[in-house]
Amino acid sequence: CGIIGYLGYREAYPIIINGLKKLEYRGYDSSGIAIFYNGKYSLYKTKGRVSELEKKIFSIKGTTGIGHTRWATHGIPDDINAHPHVSNSKELVLIHNGIIENYHAIKIILLKNGFTFKSETDTEVLVNLIEYIQKKNQLSLEEAVRISLNEVIGAYSIAVIEKSDPDRIVIAKLGSPLTLGINEKEFFIASDPTPFIDYTKNAIYLKDGEMAILRKDKELDLRKIIDNHKLNPIIKELKINLKEIEKGEYKHFMLKEIYEQPKTILDTLRGRLLISDGLICIDGIESNKEIFINAKCITIVACGTSWHSSLIGEYLLEELARIPVKVEYASEFRYRNPIIEEQNIVIVISQSGETADTIAALKLAKKKGAFVFGICNVAGSYIARNVDAGAYTHAGPEIGVASTKSFTSQITVLFLLALKIGKYRSTITNIRYEFLCKELISVPEKMNFTLKIDNNIQKISKLYHHVNNFLYLGRGINFPVSLEGALKLKEISYIHAEGYPAGEMKHGPIALIDENMPVVVIATKKGYYEKIIGNIQEIKARKGKIIAIVNEGDIQASKLADHIIEIPIISEELSPLITIIPLQLLAYQIAYLRGKNVDRPRNLAKSVTVE
Ligand code: G6P
Repeated sequence: CGIIGYLGYREAYPIIINGLKKLEYRGYDSSGIAIFYNGKYSLYKTKGRVSELEKKIFSIKGTTGIGHTRWATHGIPDDINAHPHVSNSKELVLIHNGIIENYHAIKIILLKNGFTFKSETDTEVLVNLIEYIQKKNQLSLEEAVRISLNEVIGAYSIAVIEKSDPDRIVIAKLGSPLTLGINEKEFFIASDPTPFIDYTKNAIYLKDGEMAILRKDKELDLRKIIDNHKLNPIIKELKINLKEIEKGEYKHFMLKEIYEQPKTILDTLRGRLLISDGLICIDGIESNKEIFINAKCITIVACGTSWHSSLIGEYLLEELARIPVKVEYASEFRYRNPIIEEQNIVIVISQSGETADTIAALKLAKKKGAFVFGICNVAGSYIARNVDAGAYTHAGPEIGVASTKSFTSQITVLFLLALKIGKYRSTITNIRYEFLCKELISVPEKMNFTLKIDNNIQKISKLYHHVNNFLYLGRGINFPVSLEGALKLKEISYIHAEGYPAGEMKHGPIALIDENMPVVVIATKKGYYEKIIGNIQEIKARKGKIIAIVNEGDIQASKLADHIIEIPIISEELSPLITIIPLQLLAYQIAYLRGKNVDRPRNLAKSVTVE
């Protein structure tokens, strides 16, 4: 979910509604807004996108307001479950991102005390808990919020306003993200700073367990939720380029982000690869050289697309640095009792740096004494701030919900890491090291070349956009690419797709193959080509439709396939950076032809800040 608020001297409505549009990538199944004016408030909520909400509103006056765009956890997406939620007396109005895990127990107590509930949400329970505690003990809003939050188990970022005192907003954070923009005589609240960078570059990232009381014409009052201890706010200057979050000439952010990849790879490499000196500079590794040299095992933890790049990282680190690697889903790792021994490193990978499961995994790894290295895209995000060391991907803001450029920039960082550690540990020869560095430099140009196949992909997409199933096959380092290709298609076109190691096909998926089943096969020269040819023949014998990703000049696979997509040759270790591009474009073109909302696929969110 995304939350936003404003308190100051400007009209709040345009700030809130435009801010909600920028936060929509966090969830968009319903949204709502409350603006305060003259001791009253106007509240609008609706199912669907922020644009639906906008249609309901003519204009609202008032210089205090809050808004919310939801990704449903408790209760279906509808008008009633949408935020803001209001307490029984209608005095308190609250927005919330996160999950109150013990809401059921609290609800039972509140019901016994005469409270009633309209929605199925945990948030309505929280706003009434605050009201209950406030009335019972005759407390100020901030004290009632503080005491209530000490009763709550779960994760939250919240903003609450009391109708009778609209010049004050109380905010608090635990687990879910919350940033505060500050100007003279005004405050902006948001899940991330994009909604307020037009107004201020001064921001505070609230830490877990902190709350703040914002008052018109008063200094910020920052406190600890647990004991009300006063804290000194640390203001940071934001460095975000607004151009980076606009679509420009592209129809969708996803397409823009696919096409941006040659540039983002250069950004990821900038200052890190000094080819003339044969040097790779990554501060987070250099300052912890001994830890990496002596590492006995690396566990990589992530979710979604970041989990797929982790699988590629496993291949690279084992191949080049000869360290055993395990890859885990963060949502599984966090609830197991994983074995972390001395000299174990945990790498957490996250575009947003705020995925709830990955954060929990990071906390567990630290608790177990691991050295934790982070690979994140969003600067200043929770994960970036809480790891022992790390490297940013520098891919720039990624707005399309389906991740594209983050995937390739994560692989690039993992490749640098593997090369650097391999060099430290002498597990890679100088000749191979130098060769791979040169190959790495050639990636942006080869990506540019690969992007030219878009026309061919559009033609193939026209033939297959109506099918219900797709199979993706790859081997070795391109097996995770097949998983990622299938995920992209699923996410944005809602076609069922599976990625499989080509060699495993005979143990199940082959039963699905008939003349209606398109199979995308990554059949590049360097990776087990002969084996893949064998797999293609097996598909052909069962009349499956073969879409083969091949290298320029390929003969064998091209003869067998129904369609070929030609890409440049590159060494196997770097091939995922090229083979993924046709798969991203194929998913995009098919979703586009099916008329789907490519940037905002149903039921998904860019940052999943709840578990
Ligand atoms: C969500 C997004 C995916 C992303 C995953 C992990 O599911 O829709 O695109 O890969 O979260 O996100 P992270 O920010 O941790 O990489």
